[in-house]
Parts: sequence; C-alpha cells; structure tokens
Amino acid sequence: MLNLAGTKQTHKLKIVQTIAELERSLKALPTGGSKIALVPTMGALHNGHLSLIETAQQYADVVVCSIFVNPTQFTDPKDLEKYPRPLAHDIKMLTDAGCNFVFMPSVKEMYPTYPTPENWHIDLGSAEFVLEGESRKGHYQGVTQIVKKLFDAVKPDIAFFGQKDFQQVLMIKNMVKALELQVQIVTCPIIREEDGLAMSSRNIHLSETDRKHALVLSKALAYVSNNYHKEELNVLLDNAKIMINGTEGIVLDYFTLADGETLLPIKDKSAKHPVALVAAKVGETRLIDNVIIN
Ligand code: PAF
Repeated sequence: MLNLAGTKQTHKLKIVQTIAELERSLKALPTGGSKIALVPTMGALHNGHLSLIETAQQYADVVVCSIFVNPTQFTDPKDLEKYPRPLAHDIKMLTDAGCNFVFMPSVKEMYPTYPTPENWHIDLGSAEFVLEGESRKGHYQGVTQIVKKLFDAVKPDIAFFGQKDFQQVLMIKNMVKALELQVQIVTCPIIREEDGLAMSSRNIHLSETDRKHALVLSKALAYVSNNYHKEELNVLLDNAKIMINGTEGIVLDYFTLADGETLLPIKDKSAKHPVALVAAKVGETRLIDNVIIN
C-alpha cells in the first residue's frame, strides 16, 4: 500500500475548508484510485482520536480527519457553545500524526440554510430512542445527517469511529445499511487514561475533584465485566449502581446491561452481544462509557 503519510513530524498537513476544495484536492492526488479513510471528529483531539488516525493509516493510503462541531446534534445550545475548540492544538496533533488532510468546514458550508433546518429524517431503528436518544431527542438524526454529508464530501472507502460512543456507531452502521452506502465502518477500541478514565473531549471540563469522582464509572464497568460470568444480572447491576450512587458529585443517568444491537436490557445470559453502558453527570459534565462483555 502506498504510504502518503510520510515520516511523522515532517509531513505537511493540508487544511481544507470547503467541499469544492476538498474534492479538487482528493481528485488531484497522484495515486488515482487510492484508498481514502475518513476520521470524523468534532475536534478537541486527544489520544483516542490519535488512535483512530493511526488505525486509519494502516488501512488506507490517504487519511482525512474532519473537525466540525455539528450544531444539529446538540440538544442543549449551552453545550454547543461551550464545546471546546482548541484548533491550534488539534492541527499540531494531526501534523505530528502524519494525517494527510484536515477538513474544517464552516457551519454554512455544511448547512447552507442554517439555522433553518434541512429536511433530514432517516429510520435508524428503535435503538435510536433509548439511552442517549432518550435524553437527547433528535441527537442521532443530527449525527447521521452530518456523517452522511461528510461521506458525500470525502467519499471515503472506510471510516473510523470510537467505541466510546457505542450507540453512535450503531446508528451510523444502521444509516449505512438503510441508505446502502458503499463505505466500510470500523469501530476502534476505547482509549483510557492510566487510571481507567475513558478519553473524551469533554474531560477538560472536569475539575480535579470531578475527575477523581469520574473514575467510578470505569470501575463499575470493570466490576460488571469481570464478574459477568459469576454473578446474577440483577446483582451486577445493583452493585454497579451502588458504587456510582455512593460517589459524591455524580448523578447517574443510566447503567444498563444491554444487547449490543437492540440496546434493550438483556434478560439473561443467553444474549449474544452483551454490553454494559453507563451515562452520568459528573459535576456539570455528562460522561458516557461502556464495555463489551466477552
Ligand atoms: O463523535 C463525534 O465526534 C461526532 O458525533 C461525529 C461522529 C464527528 C459527528 O459529528
């Protein structure tokens, strides 16, 4: 496979802001027919994103990372406003990683009629409305709308998403199936800090104390995963909830053991793809995390 990424540190990242320029740049690549990977992000990049870029580099000749804080997936305008946008840091990270292109469109570029909504609705199945979808109405319509627009702009052969947003990847896969899109979706494992905290762009909002409290989420997931084959489901769930509810400064939204395809709670251990998922507010910051049970 042709490696356009070049040597780390020395590769020059190309910054592109319009769809037309992106299409021109990708068409002009000397490797006509090369494999293109897309890593969609909202910026505030961390090592979790970096691992997506590194995995993408192993699969494709050209890696495009998009940075776009997508307004249509935010249900709370305050959340949209305070979403971190450390652009210089992001560009340095992508340059050092040897990423080939960063696509950073404006809101008008992606949504020409904004703030007037466009006509977008897709049947994502009943899993759209549970867990994150229950408290964030329309969130996955917004996510799939922008991901489809990014697919249209980049025309990737393959796209990479993090397992941390488990439900998001499921929704994107459902969209790809529903629209019969010719793009392969790859889910990359959650990257954790040494103490277990799942990496997230939102972690920078955590105070030192919040950050300590937040560790109970990954601990509760690890407890459930490590004891899944030893304990009854209700015992696992009760104990995990006791751990979280017993931690100061945390308001639990949900902790569930669900089927990885329907996201409905599993009733017994015959479930084929069990996954434990958690969401909680830690101080002012809402965090999610999960673990796939083997
Ligand atoms: O996971 C994210 O950062 C976003 O939801 C995504 C997939 C880039 C769509 O805006």
